[in-house]
Order: sequence, then structure tokens, then C-alpha cells
Amino acid sequence: MKQKDVLIKISDLKKSFPGGTEALKGVSFDVYRGELLVIVGASGAGKSTLLRCINGLSAISSGSIVVDGIEVNGLKGKKLRQLRTDVGMIFQSFNIVNRKRVIDNALHGRLAYYGLRGVLGLYSFEDKKKAFEILARLDLEKQVAKRADQLSGGQKQRVAIARAIMQEPKVLLADEPVASLDPGASSKVLGYLHKICQEEDITAIVSLHQIDYARNYADRIIGLTEGVVTFEGGPEDLDDEAIQELYFNEEEEE
Ligand SMILES: Nc1ncnc2c1ncn2[C@@H]1O[C@H](COP(=O)(O)OP(=O)(O)OP(=O)(O)O)[C@@H](O)[C@H]1O
Ligand SMILES: [Mg+2]
Repeated sequence: MKQKDVLIKISDLKKSFPGGTEALKGVSFDVYRGELLVIVGASGAGKSTLLRCINGLSAISSGSIVVDGIEVNGLKGKKLRQLRTDVGMIFQSFNIVNRKRVIDNALHGRLAYYGLRGVLGLYSFEDKKKAFEILARLDLEKQVAKRADQLSGGQKQRVAIARAIMQEPKVLLADEPVASLDPGASSKVLGYLHKICQEEDITAIVSLHQIDYARNYADRIIGLTEGVVTFEGGPEDLDDEAIQELYFNEEEEE
């Protein structure tokens, strides 16, 4: 069997907010290169906080996060910008530019590589071709010239995926990417996300509320309960007992 290659190493990560909320209370786990890791956990468990720490959006309180050999904590300037290029991000709210065409939204993923030329929309022929090709692989070839505000939620999220892939990240973080979508659109988005990350050899960390989606699309699953890792395993290991522990912590009820 191929040796598993650790791309992200999280060790004893703690994150407190002013006012005293301890959102992460000593979280440790590895993320392997090329896998789709799903983070599950009840509301307030710390999923978003964890993702924001990994791409340096949120400063950690203690512990360490190493992404492809680089310690994230304390990165500044050029190195922080490099991390943001290496780590793509997808949100529940899609975060695309509604008044721009689909193809232009996808090309936005290249901005970090262009500087001012990108702001002026002077993308290379190769990048335009690549954007078209990626959009086609996400079943959006008929939408490329439409304004993004003409799309359905599921299509908008696939545009956001295209933009993130165009960025050529090592890691893609997706925070509840299907929370605003109906079940049909959700399955489609997660299916495409899984497929394109595999094809492009991108490691993905996806937070999800829905256990069924986690089971269907995850290579591996981490469960958080109130800032602590309480589950780590394959989709087949997330049985009723594990779910009970994650979502209905008995101690809470006394
Ligand atoms: N900016 C902040 N300031 C203070 N407390 C915060 C902040 N962001 C998050 N928290 C707190 O940290 C804890 C974890 O929040 P987080 O948003 O990471 O949870 P989550 O698992 O993403 O929840 P949800 O499923 O509702 O999105 C919660 O108790 C939350 O209230
Ligand atoms: Mg959240």
C-alpha cells in the first residue's frame, strides 16, 4: 500500500475568543494529501473556527498548524499571501460576483498570479481556455457567458468551485458549502467537488451539517464536539453510536 503523505498537521490547537469562549480546546489530527476530509459536528462545535485557523484568517491561541511544511501561525506579508494562494476557500454564501459573467468569476481565481493585469481583465489565452474547460467539467459550459446572478444556487456554488480550482490550491477548504441548497443541488455540488479535487489532486477539508452527505462523499471524517475531536474514522465507522455521541452529548442534559 502507498504510504500516506501528511499535507496538514494540526497539533494541540487551541483557539479562544475575547470574552472567554474556548472554540477549540486542543485539537490534533493529520490531513493526508489528496483526501477529502469532512468535519462534522453540531452548531457551535468549532468547524468554521477550525477552517479559519487553517488558512490564517483567524489567529490561533496556541498549538500549531503546519500546511505542507509551513507553520501557519504568525505568517505575514508575502508568506501569508502565498498561504492564501495555496489554500482555496468556499463558503455557504457562494461569495461570487453576481454582476460578473461566470467565466470572469472563474478567472478571478487567477488574480493572485497576475496583479494589476488581472484587475484589468487581461487574462492569458491559456487561462481563459483552462477556465472554460474547468467550467465544462462542472457541467456549466452553457452558463459561461451568463451573469452569475442568473444562476441557481447550485450553479453558483459550482462557479465558486471553478474559481477555487483556477487558483491551483494545494488545499481547498469548504465551510458548509451546501447548507443553502436543496438536497438535489447539494448532492450534485458535493459530487462535483469530490470528483474535481480527485482529478486535480487537491486535498479538501469540507465542513458539513448533514451526516448522510459526510458518509457519501468523505474519504475520512473528523467529528468535533464543543471544540474537541470526538470522532476520527472512515465513513463506515460513523455509526449510530458515534452520531449519538457527536450530536446528543448526554452529559449536557443533566
Ligand atoms: N468571532 C467570534 N467571537 C466570539 N466567539 C466566537 C466567534 N466566532 C465563533 N465564536 C464561538 O466559537 C464557538 C465555535 O463557533 P464556530 O462558528 O466555529 O462553530 P461551527 O461548528 O462552525 O457552528 P455552525 O455549525 O453553527 O456553523 C461558538 O461557541 C461560537 O459562538
Ligand atoms: Mg460554522
